[in-house]
Amino acid sequence: MTDLLDGTVLSPMYETTRRPLYTETTTSQALYLPIAPPTLGSSGAIIGRELYSGKAFIYCPFSAFGDGLPGGNMIVMGDTGRGKSALTKTYTARQIRLGRQVVVLDTKEQKEREEGEWAALGRSITGKAPVKFAPGGGRGASCINPLDPAISGKRQVELLRTIVELGLGKGKGLDEFAGSALRIAIRRARRRAEALDRTPVLADVADALRSPEESDAAAKQRTREQLLADGLEASYVLDRLCGGEEDATGDLTGMLDGPTSLGVDLDADMIVFDLTKVPSGGVAMTVLVAVISVFLEEVWLRPRCECGTEPGQHDRVVVDVNSGAWELGANPGSGCGRYTQRKRILVCEEAWHILGTPDLARLLEKFLKFARGYGLSCIFIVHHLSDIDDSPETQAALKMADTIVIYSQKKAEAEGTVARLGLPAWTAEHITRLRRGIALWKVGEVIYPGVQHLLVEAESHLAFSSGSMTDFETHRDGS
Ligand SMILES: Nc1ncnc2c1ncn2[C@@H]1O[C@H](COP(=O)(O)OP(=O)(O)O)[C@@H](O)[C@H]1O
Ligand SMILES: [Mg+2]
Repeated sequence: MTDLLDGTVLSPMYETTRRPLYTETTTSQALYLPIAPPTLGSSGAIIGRELYSGKAFIYCPFSAFGDGLPGGNMIVMGDTGRGKSALTKTYTARQIRLGRQVVVLDTKEQKEREEGEWAALGRSITGKAPVKFAPGGGRGASCINPLDPAISGKRQVELLRTIVELGLGKGKGLDEFAGSALRIAIRRARRRAEALDRTPVLADVADALRSPEESDAAAKQRTREQLLADGLEASYVLDRLCGGEEDATGDLTGMLDGPTSLGVDLDADMIVFDLTKVPSGGVAMTVLVAVISVFLEEVWLRPRCECGTEPGQHDRVVVDVNSGAWELGANPGSGCGRYTQRKRILVCEEAWHILGTPDLARLLEKFLKFARGYGLSCIFIVHHLSDIDDSPETQAALKMADTIVIYSQKKAEAEGTVARLGLPAWTAEHITRLRRGIALWKVGEVIYPGVQHLLVEAESHLAFSSGSMTDFETHRDGS
């Protein structure tokens, strides 16, 4: 045991590598409660210590699949200041060291820095500033075009429909005629923009809805006037959302109404989307998250081997001659021996923006359902489940989280969490007593009542979320 107190094992080189724990069998029997479950294997990112067994707690949704974890999606919940973000930040940074790629939707501003709280971590890993969205655009702000050719035609139609329906307001959907007018207008806008050798934007669709062509109407057995009437309301909604040349007050102005201008390196280890300036709960936030998630799905999540090349560049190796079944093997070009899907992690900070909005939960449901096929693990950070709406879409999204991490919550919220997740009754009180940095983990069906997340010094300034409530001892002497 004295080895553990030796200063050398605490040097940075060893800080996030696993240290052996030496103990006599009798000691471990005394320490290890009969209820303590087996730990999760030895490959993956180190989280810290499982307090009941004293063992290192190692977690990796990608390597735990073989051990019965059906999917890699995770929800982290708990009161403010308990360590949710610190855990997720260090966990993703540690996963990046294992070769993963991470995307973060950051919606929480760190007031004193005037940027999202993930910006510092992103910068330290990639050297790049976050991809920032701000109403009205402005210097350094990005724009993402729902009609970008990188997004497939079918997804463009789905997105535009979502945008118009969100703009119409709660509970209002497009009827068949309006839906059809919208599809026709998107097609027409695409052709008109093509003739001008540019990419179509939302204003082109609004324009096409207002100026339908005779041939489009005739193909649907409508008159031009009828087609115009079918799509007129949708065109008004798009006009309002996008604003105009003299009107920069549209909800989506500067963020979604122009050609895509993203300074995104899709191969970067970490991409942070800074949404902190976008009003929460508004149409813009919802639409922006919807468009970003489709963009990610269509562009970022393209299959790619860990060696950086595409599946098509790998040889097909027949594994069963009778059925012709094959798998992807070596890529002679890159010297890679076997295709291994690159694993990705998507983090949503303050995810109630997403889970609490049925339209978004529905869009994300697909993401979650196929996450495993994409080699993707989604992490949602919320305070408590009462933040989250009770719609069937949200319920479905919740069910798809196979790992749930619960930091301390107040009594009523803890009871709500336990009831909603079907946890054993004793966990309700236990959750209220958890100290900062310690959480209850439910991984698949196994409960780890106390997992202490260990932060090392090199990581602590990146996980530090706010100085607003802390007095620092610096500069007292005026130096
Ligand atoms: N495991 C931990 N060990 C030590 N300090 C921690 C730990 N987890 C969090 N903290 C500290 O607590 C503060 C709040 O943590 P944070 O992760 O931002 O909370 P939350 O996201 O739950 O609101 C941070 O400044 C962080 O440095
Ligand atoms: Mg936080």
